[in-house]
Amino acid sequence: MPIRKICCIGAGYVGGPTCSVIAFKCPEIQVTVVDISQSRINAWNSDELPIYEPGLIEIVSKVRNKNLFFTTEADSAIESADLIFISVNTPTKTFGVGKGRAPDLKYVESAARKIAEVASAPKIVVEKSTVPVKAAESITKILKHLAPHIPFQVLSNPEFLAEGTAISDLLTPDRVLIGGEESEAGCKAIEELAKVYEHWVPREKLITMNTWSSELSKLAANAFLAQRISSINAVSAVCEVTGANVEEVAHAIGRDSRIGSKFLKASVGFGGSCFQKDVLNLVYISEALNLPEVAEYWHQVILMNDYQRRRFVDKIVERLFQTVTGKRIAIMGFSYKKNTGDTRESSSIYICKHLLDEEAKVVIYDPKVDPEQIKMDLTEPSIMNDKERYDRLVTIASDPYSAVENAHAMVVCTEWDEFVTLDYQKIFEVMQKPAFIFDGRLILNHTKLLEIGFQVEVIGKVPKLT
Ligand SMILES: NC(=O)c1ccc[n+]([C@@H]2O[C@H](COP(=O)([O-])OP(=O)(O)OC[C@H]3O[C@@H](n4cnc5c(N)ncnc54)[C@H](O)[C@@H]3O)[C@@H](O)[C@H]2O)c1
Repeated sequence: MPIRKICCIGAGYVGGPTCSVIAFKCPEIQVTVVDISQSRINAWNSDELPIYEPGLIEIVSKVRNKNLFFTTEADSAIESADLIFISVNTPTKTFGVGKGRAPDLKYVESAARKIAEVASAPKIVVEKSTVPVKAAESITKILKHLAPHIPFQVLSNPEFLAEGTAISDLLTPDRVLIGGEESEAGCKAIEELAKVYEHWVPREKLITMNTWSSELSKLAANAFLAQRISSINAVSAVCEVTGANVEEVAHAIGRDSRIGSKFLKASVGFGGSCFQKDVLNLVYISEALNLPEVAEYWHQVILMNDYQRRRFVDKIVERLFQTVTGKRIAIMGFSYKKNTGDTRESSSIYICKHLLDEEAKVVIYDPKVDPEQIKMDLTEPSIMNDKERYDRLVTIASDPYSAVENAHAMVVCTEWDEFVTLDYQKIFEVMQKPAFIFDGRLILNHTKLLEIGFQVEVIGKVPKLT
């Protein structure tokens, strides 16, 4: 029976955009996205969507309230759906066994329990959240125990979209992965989900496999991507002390077709809700499987990322004459990458934390991040458990020029395009002298900045006037 109704549990960065594209490409399928957060659902039903993604609002406005619905009424959406995506968050555990490494699967479990409680007819349940290998087995067990009379098929269909390019990633994916049970019923369920994607994804891009391979592929793919960033960042440290230029090195190694040129940009470190969490997830699984060498290998990717962030802040303090206490430092960009307002695990948070530990006065500008979000991130207990200190040391600027006024240093943390085209002559004039620029993303014209008179510090190279 073809899929006519889809329910998605979780209206976040994955559930929202994914279901908007499915509804857009499959007009005969009714798609309902449910969430426990009333405010998130309200935002999805308004013109101020809860997340920023280029192209998202255009698609949502074409299909919302036609065949795409956002609601907190989960029961009826689950009950009437043929296929249910679980797209809830799977953050790293902050307490108990596996604290700091294992993913917290409580949201996945509660979604599975809800499905079992509400469903009265067979359904295909699709795990879209990133989960440890064998999580589908746990979902299957919950469903079988709580609703033994209903035949469920549980599939793994990990999402590979990247924030900032989510819509184009969803419209033209490199591949769509579907894992399922190796049985007749499993193959049939895989086929049903494949037919949904076939509305716009060429068949040869649909890869099917067993559930465990599919679950592990997602973790492994993110670990490989994070590893590339940590690898080039490790090289950047060597460049800075030898006079080599990390951009030239990246260009040279990326021209090798076995290596490829993407994901070779040195930076202040990777952020986002996925890379660190998923690598740690792989570390935890490897430890649990008694594979300590494998765990240690992947853990090094995280340690290198921490080192890169720390190295960058140490350099700021060192260049500013060994002290930033009381100095005004402009932080340009707070989201973890451009074209998103998402700040989860953003390197900016860690850079601000270290500067604030030194009692610097931090002025933050970001074109998309809500000031309230910045306050929440920086007053987290692990960052700065003191709202009075926050009010004394942190200012949010509404435009880049007011951020840099009287600043001793401007620190580029996010690669927003608008930072490239700012009037740096004007900026130089309003900053304290010597005026320092720290480019943590290698996006600025360093020669021009040196010509203006800035002291320029860049990851992975020593900029010089030629
Ligand atoms: N963000 C990304 O770029 C990305 C990319 C690929 C995969 N993933 C994975 O997808 C999953 C979701 O990520 P996200 O970034 O969309 O998370 P998110 O935090 O943005 O969204 C998750 C949503 O699920 C809701 N939720 C939690 N439990 C619920 C329940 N029982 N019923 C209804 N709603 C519930 C939350 O309120 C939240 O709105 C994670 O496993 C993540 O690792 C994320």
